[in-house]
Amino acid sequence: MRSMVKNSCPVCHNYQSNYLGSHIRNEHGEKALSQSVLKAKESGMPDPEIGEIFGITFRQLEKIITDAYGVNISVLKRPKKIKYWAPKNFREETTTVWSYKQRGDWATHDGRYRGNWSPYIPRNVILKYSNPGDIVLDYFVGGGTTAVEAKLLGGGK
Ligand SMILES: C[S@@+](CC[C@H](N)C(=O)[O-])C[C@H]1O[C@@H](n2cnc3c(N)ncnc32)[C@H](O)[C@@H]1O
Ligand SMILES: [Zn+2]
Repeated sequence: MRSMVKNSCPVCHNYQSNYLGSHIRNEHGEKALSQSVLKAKESGMPDPEIGEIFGITFRQLEKIITDAYGVNISVLKRPKKIKYWAPKNFREETTTVWSYKQRGDWATHDGRYRGNWSPYIPRNVILKYSNPGDIVLDYFVGGGTTAVEAKLLGGGK
């Protein structure tokens, strides 16, 4: 899917350009553009890549998703197959600079949506500042990264 969208028009299959978005809009219409974008989104393509390939902004992408689904669902893809429940070779942070090459994709975590934070962060904070069974409160729950980490680390609430 990725290379197909990147290299040729998903409608007429024979167009190659940096301006795929305007090609689809001009040759095949606005609806075809929305459908191509949704297809790319459903295949799991990250938002920045969709923006780059189709020449649209995050705002335009969100509008296309909202128009199609009624709400802005950030990750339109098949349910994730969980391969492991905890990060491999995890070591608690010991300094004030925390930096992660990978966002972390254990359990249900998925870094594709730009709005969530790396689960390494709540994992460290929970381990440092709470005991099993404590209540962990994250007002800005978003996609639930903190809640999932709290549960994985022995919390019930
Ligand atoms: C950047 S997201 C947090 C993402 C979260 N850490 C995660 O990993 O999914 C910020 C969240 O805070 C919520 N939010 C923003 N302002 C708020 C407020 N004043 N009161 C409660 N929730 C708020 C938003 O709806 C959004 O879900
Ligand atoms: Zn075309």
